[in-house]
Amino acid sequence: MKIIAPSMLSSDFGRLIDEIELINKSNADWFHLDVMDGVFVPNITFGSPVLDIFKNYAKKPLDIHLMIVNPENYIDKFSSYNPDIITIHMEAVNDISAVLKKIKNLNIKAGLAINPDTPIKHLEPYINEIDMVCLMGVFPGFSGQKFINKTNSRLRDLKNLIESKKSKVLIQVDGGVDLSNVKELSRLGADILVSGSCIFKSKNPSKIIDSLKKESKV
Ligand code: DX5
Ligand code: ZN
Repeated sequence: MKIIAPSMLSSDFGRLIDEIELINKSNADWFHLDVMDGVFVPNITFGSPVLDIFKNYAKKPLDIHLMIVNPENYIDKFSSYNPDIITIHMEAVNDISAVLKKIKNLNIKAGLAINPDTPIKHLEPYINEIDMVCLMGVFPGFSGQKFINKTNSRLRDLKNLIESKKSKVLIQVDGGVDLSNVKELSRLGADILVSGSCIFKSKNPSKIIDSLKKESKV
């Protein structure tokens, strides 16, 4: 069974604590938290005050996805919310290894995200330094976008790269994941499926989570 990580960006922030409770009680595994700065991506989401709410109410691991420039300046602050994992974008940083080291030195797992137009081979130098690759299924910035189909072949390439390096790095697929593609992505080797609008725009989010979980069993 795969890890299902609801992207809270699609939840109703007017009822955030109820939405967090819903995920606490559901069969979902992680909270996926999308932090955007309006510079690396053309959208601004949330930062410290909202992360603080997750720290206080969420009872499952926090997976912080940073879509920001200069993430190194915020790692210390974000570590105070006790995340399980912090993911940075390889396109947003100059010295990727240094930022990964900074995350790992705080005893937090390090993820590296890759945009749909960045070649998979660019991950090669870092594959043994990270705990997770976040393979974007859409261009980062917004929830509710259509899944880019060539992500499937990129996932295949990524899986081959990981196997050739004898690495244990986990693969997360983020963006446009729903009931129509979760099975195939799981079959191709995704370990963690992030899903936002598919879960929160439905009338019964827990039921969708159960279906995603079931479909991901391959
Ligand atoms: C996109 C974000 C995703 C997004 C997922 O920039 O990183 O996590 O919120 O939402 P859906 O599942 O609606 O694409
Ligand atoms: Zn994300």
